[in-house]
Amino acid sequence: MMEARSNNLRLHFEVQGAGAPVLLVHGYPLSGRLWDDVATHLADDYRLIIPDLRGHGASEAAASATMEEQARDLMAVLDAADEQRPVVLVGMSMGGYVALAFCRLFRERVRGLVLVNSRAEADSLEAAEARRATAETVLERGAAGVSEVADSMVEKLFADSTNAVLRQEWRVRMAATDPVGMAAALRGMADRPDSTALLKELKVPMLMVGGEEDVITPAEGVRQMAEEVGAALEIIPGAGHMTPVERPAEVAEALREFLERVV
Ligand code: MLT
Repeated sequence: MMEARSNNLRLHFEVQGAGAPVLLVHGYPLSGRLWDDVATHLADDYRLIIPDLRGHGASEAAASATMEEQARDLMAVLDAADEQRPVVLVGMSMGGYVALAFCRLFRERVRGLVLVNSRAEADSLEAAEARRATAETVLERGAAGVSEVADSMVEKLFADSTNAVLRQEWRVRMAATDPVGMAAALRGMADRPDSTALLKELKVPMLMVGGEEDVITPAEGVRQMAEEVGAALEIIPGAGHMTPVERPAEVAEALREFLERVV
């Protein structure tokens, strides 16, 4: 169990393996556990740094969690891991939004960028309003509000064929999220800037991974984004939004192919 401090906030992270550094960033309202099964395929050859974002997993929550603050948290984690080399940055969904903020702030530390079930656009006005309303509800209702969010998320996260054990495991994990941390992440996502132009300007190797049955970040959007920026593309059959847990071997294979080209 390793810990970093970012503006006095306690952040949990794990390090596995040795080799070129790969920073694996989970989505909302998930945790570093998202990468467990992918990591088993890669840890023999790479140094995997796997944080819990603020307010998620075993990391402390704060009232604010902008994508920029979370990107600075990632830098604090790299420092605590004594990792000074540029990393291949892999961000799943909200982790992708944080990864884009990291690219904006610390471009020189990014050797390659992988967006997994993510997007570069900001929220529409309606989507941002809906997130802010959910944040209010979660703060008012506390654990009961978080549990309602977990119930509604679990309906959308997985492909039809994904087994009930996996769904239940993640429902329980999501329902344990700190209400303050959940509300902060919702507001942070609602306020995030559009990163489409940034993505086009970024001169780093890129890979976009999508799930064929993802209803949160549909595969078609991922395909378009990859085409627009000339990124490599991998759409994983039989996966929803949770590709790293639904199809870990395929995700690891796509990452390995990319890593072998890039590092
Ligand atoms: C996530 O998985 O991180 C979220 O679903 C992202 C989002 O809601 O935009």
